[in-house]
Amino acid sequence: MKNIPVIMIIFGGSGDLAHRKLYPSLFNLYEQGLIHDNFAVIGTARRPWSHEYLREQVSDVIHETHDQVDENEVKAFASHFYYQSHDVTNVEHYVTLKKLAQELDDRYSAQGNCLFYMAMAPRFFGTIATHINDQHLTGSGFNRIVVEKPFGHDLVSAEQLNKEITASFDENDIFRIDHYLGKEMIQNIMPMRFTNPLIKNIWSGEYIKNIQITLAERLGVEARGGYYDTSGALRDMVQNHIFQIITLLAMPEPKDLSSDSVHQAKQELLKSLIIPTPEEVKKNFVRGQYLGSDTTFAYKKEPNVDPDSTTETYVAGKTKFTSGPIAGVPIYFRTGKEFKEKKTRIDIVLKHINNPYGQAHSNNITIEVDPESKIYITINGKKIDEPGIRREDLTYAFSKEEMAKVPDGYERLLHDVFVNDSTNFTHWSELKRYWEFIDAVEDAWQKENEAGNPEIAQYLPYRMGPKEADNIFESPTEHWIYE
Ligand code: BG6
Repeated sequence: MKNIPVIMIIFGGSGDLAHRKLYPSLFNLYEQGLIHDNFAVIGTARRPWSHEYLREQVSDVIHETHDQVDENEVKAFASHFYYQSHDVTNVEHYVTLKKLAQELDDRYSAQGNCLFYMAMAPRFFGTIATHINDQHLTGSGFNRIVVEKPFGHDLVSAEQLNKEITASFDENDIFRIDHYLGKEMIQNIMPMRFTNPLIKNIWSGEYIKNIQITLAERLGVEARGGYYDTSGALRDMVQNHIFQIITLLAMPEPKDLSSDSVHQAKQELLKSLIIPTPEEVKKNFVRGQYLGSDTTFAYKKEPNVDPDSTTETYVAGKTKFTSGPIAGVPIYFRTGKEFKEKKTRIDIVLKHINNPYGQAHSNNITIEVDPESKIYITINGKKIDEPGIRREDLTYAFSKEEMAKVPDGYERLLHDVFVNDSTNFTHWSELKRYWEFIDAVEDAWQKENEAGNPEIAQYLPYRMGPKEADNIFESPTEHWIYE
């Protein structure tokens, strides 16, 4: 594998994301030789750490996340890390940062290549981007920037942030990360759709009755109440993860697998996304908040959450496209905290066909993304010793050994950033469209809140969310497949 020379600057270098995801992923890429002799990482954050302290932290995290490691290898890897105490609003600090980056560029022969990673509280993204531009932090080689979610809070703030970032970076160099696009089974949607005649030929409104997407989480908001209360499930999960899944399921076949062609296919589809009216929001969307139990807080009692909060910890909704292979097919989605279990799955429900046996079961194609990775197709056949039709699953599942080989989503996506492949990142025009949809729903809810009678279903924790979500279906023959 090619050794890519680069200086990487992580804003948020002492934070949770850097520790849990970035440092272990970088180590794996280092071991594979993608980044090796000619790279350095500058971790920045407010805390007054030293280079040595950051290196200790990095070593500790590698030991925690890897079963067997070569001590010398960990030491060598950690030696590439540098720490810069940094206040994101202080101009002087960017000047110092630039000096350090230039010194390291010389020392590691990084050829002027710079990678900036925004891994801190999103309210600082715009400020950092502006300073990168004003203090000319970009190098003479390639300059790429990875931006964590949320990218804005609504369309207006996303546009503002985009403007600040594009002052220094071209669209092709901006990697808006959505970790769902690094997941094995999400990356499996395109091959599954486009290589199997069995699936490709039924991918239309003629055969598909509806599609259902569930992103259920067992955990509540935990320590993130402050952030979450300003966000809610719609912005936190639908605006990005769910919409990317929907797009992969509904887009036309790209002309090839280049990043440009894939983004082009997505954009073509998104032009025909139907933006809901306030009446449609009322009819087709359900929002909810979890209640407490003997051992857990109700959402409104969670730390840093407004006791009168109208923020949803659950949302179910419906969307459709007017073009693309599944134009007109209803796509239902739901996501929530404190479900009965962690489960990310996609159910493609096929229409019934007339048959001489009478009652048969529907064929469904289910893609399980988490915690297991598998695809199964429900299929009808004959019962062995009595008349009638039985239903079985044809399963495509991964063995434990195969699962162990699947890289973490962050490792995969960081790899893509280094090799400049933006296929699995969110293009600005996609993001813009997602925000248009989300804003329409948020605006309708906001009006309901202001009118004083918001419909926010209260649901019991560790079950399946509010029962009101059973009523968003277009026809009485439709229901949630995963219950
Ligand atoms: C994040 C959300 O983007 O995704 C979290 O901010 C959520 O609220 C998480 O818990 C879920 O990711 P995963 O990979 O655990 O399904």
